[in-house]
Amino acid sequence: MRNMTEEELTQLVLDGYSNTDNPRLREILLSLIKHLHEFVRDVQLTEPEWIEGIKYITAAGQISDDKRQEVILFSDLLGISSLVNMISAKVPEGATESTVIGPFFLENAPERAWGESVAKREIGDPMIIRGKVTGMNGEPVPNARIDVWQTDANGMYDVQDSNAPEHNLRGYYRTNERGEYLIKTVRPTSYPIPVDGPAGDLVRAAKRHPWRPAHVHAMITADKYQTLITHIFDGEDQYLDSDVVFAVKESLIHDFRMNESEADAKSFGVNAPFLDLEQNFILPKQRVAA
Ligand SMILES: [Fe+2]
Repeated sequence: MRNMTEEELTQLVLDGYSNTDNPRLREILLSLIKHLHEFVRDVQLTEPEWIEGIKYITAAGQISDDKRQEVILFSDLLGISSLVNMISAKVPEGATESTVIGPFFLENAPERAWGESVAKREIGDPMIIRGKVTGMNGEPVPNARIDVWQTDANGMYDVQDSNAPEHNLRGYYRTNERGEYLIKTVRPTSYPIPVDGPAGDLVRAAKRHPWRPAHVHAMITADKYQTLITHIFDGEDQYLDSDVVFAVKESLIHDFRMNESEADAKSFGVNAPFLDLEQNFILPKQRVAA
């Protein structure tokens, strides 16, 4: 271990982790070490620069809590979340595409009854999202759970807005016996990612804008089907082609149609006119282990 060259050091570190029992963990660790060492060599990283890097990573941890997730934000901003999604969450042709989960999902959101709105205060344009959850052969999926979360008309999630009612624009619905669902909400707005922490420093340093195009997040879980984590994007948004976290997919962009029908409004328990989106979620069956 004395008088090592750079290459010998890298090999020694790799050897140090080569007995890791779990084969997948070993594969990940060895590749990570190889690439990190290569990165340090590539940019000829200096000690003061690495201290800055450590401070940066530490700050992301320190600003995170049960309502704020700066590390996911970093992953999103560097395109890692989207790349992992592209590689690992591929679905067969015909299934609804997935995208990143983002930093604002909360466990333990409340259940919303059929016809209940997730909007707990009167701002924003009323919107209905309705349709079916089905399998790949069109079979309805009853009792599927549809979690939704989104920004209010002020561009903030409930967890960022101390004036918002608890769990505003957040909750989960269940499909009925025919696989149908009905989400009552308001039009989501585009929003800047939080820029008051280290993720903001990164965006400013790169002279990028901090905006995400307006979307409703949805996560659909059902027995025997693959979980779907996706977005419903507003097709009129100006940031669709410059999403700061690189998470837009063409098939997830929708036309939020204005519905002026009094009869439709009555059947959904809203006032006309309202934004009306029909959207089916199509889920592949869970992979069965061989
Ligand atoms: Fe979002």
